[in-house]
Amino acid sequence: MSLPHPRIVSAEILRNDPLTKEIREIVFRLPSDWGPAEPGQFVQVECRPADPFVLRRPFSIARTREGSGELRLHLVFAPVGDGTRALAACRPGEHTSLVGPLGRGFRPIPGRRPILVGGGRGVAPLLSLGDQIRKTHPEGLLLFGVRGPDQLHELEDPAYPIEIATQDGSVGFHGHLLGLLDALLEEGRIRPDSDAIYSCGPNPMLHALSDWAIARGFPAQVSLETLFGCGFGICAGCAVPVKQSEDEVGDEFGHYRFACVDGPVFDAERVDWEGVRE
Ligand SMILES: Cc1cc2nc3c(=O)[nH]c(=O)nc-3n(C[C@H](O)[C@H](O)[C@H](O)COP(=O)(O)OP(=O)(O)OC[C@H]3O[C@@H](n4cnc5c(N)ncnc54)[C@H](O)[C@@H]3O)c2cc1C
Ligand code: FES
Repeated sequence: MSLPHPRIVSAEILRNDPLTKEIREIVFRLPSDWGPAEPGQFVQVECRPADPFVLRRPFSIARTREGSGELRLHLVFAPVGDGTRALAACRPGEHTSLVGPLGRGFRPIPGRRPILVGGGRGVAPLLSLGDQIRKTHPEGLLLFGVRGPDQLHELEDPAYPIEIATQDGSVGFHGHLLGLLDALLEEGRIRPDSDAIYSCGPNPMLHALSDWAIARGFPAQVSLETLFGCGFGICAGCAVPVKQSEDEVGDEFGHYRFACVDGPVFDAERVDWEGVRE
């Protein structure tokens, strides 16, 4: 599929609500001809009106909804610093601008059952992945791992049955997502010969998950959250070390790829995790 051209658009904020103590959902009204976005792509948002910052901030597209001649874009985000706190302070009715859709998203593998694995706010792009592939891949599982109730929120109309893992044991499986994957594998509920893993979450989790999946023969794709600058391939701020294939040796970018244009989704086998900032 050829990717749509990214555009800068003015976006009206329709909602900006807390989902939990740490996580919020913001919904924008966009021009109806925006996109279409591939699951795993992201937008660069100007975090105003309180925003004196030069750089837009990247957010995965959690969902898009069409209706009544308009398009609604949903983002799930955590206020962790100045930009995201400014975004959290924006009120319905205010406008900001955003650029997108950007980057390369997930490439669902035909014939393989999707196992979506989201750590914390990393569940966001997996919601749009589920929305887009639920017809072609009717069977699947969504694993949602969080530390505890401060990150756990309801997932509206998920494409697949959900299994929750909490590190404090308050809900669902008691432990990390890898523990849950081990348990599902042991019970025969996931299988490397028929399933594929698609994941987003903190980099240490993605590193561990990639090692786990590769060792057991699961194909896996991971959406990396590296630090970003420009968001469109100019500043090299998002360079990700990758393992090169033979035909790439001597390529002008050496063993790096830009997460903002070549990713943020990469094959787990491709990432050279030793050099990724965790
Ligand atoms: C492709 C992509 C998709 C993303 N999707 C989402 C999303 O759906 N929801 C969401 O809440 N966040 C997402 N992020 C992370 C989000 O962009 C950062 O949290 C945000 O830019 C921080 O800006 P700030 O000004 O609030 O914080 P800053 O003041 O810039 O930083 C605050 C803290 O967050 C850390 N931080 C900053 N940027 C990142 C980053 N990219 N990854 C990890 N830690 C970071 C800093 O090191 C610092 O500790 C995504 C990032 C990328 C690259
Ligand atoms: S963020 Fe500037 S090149 Fe990727």
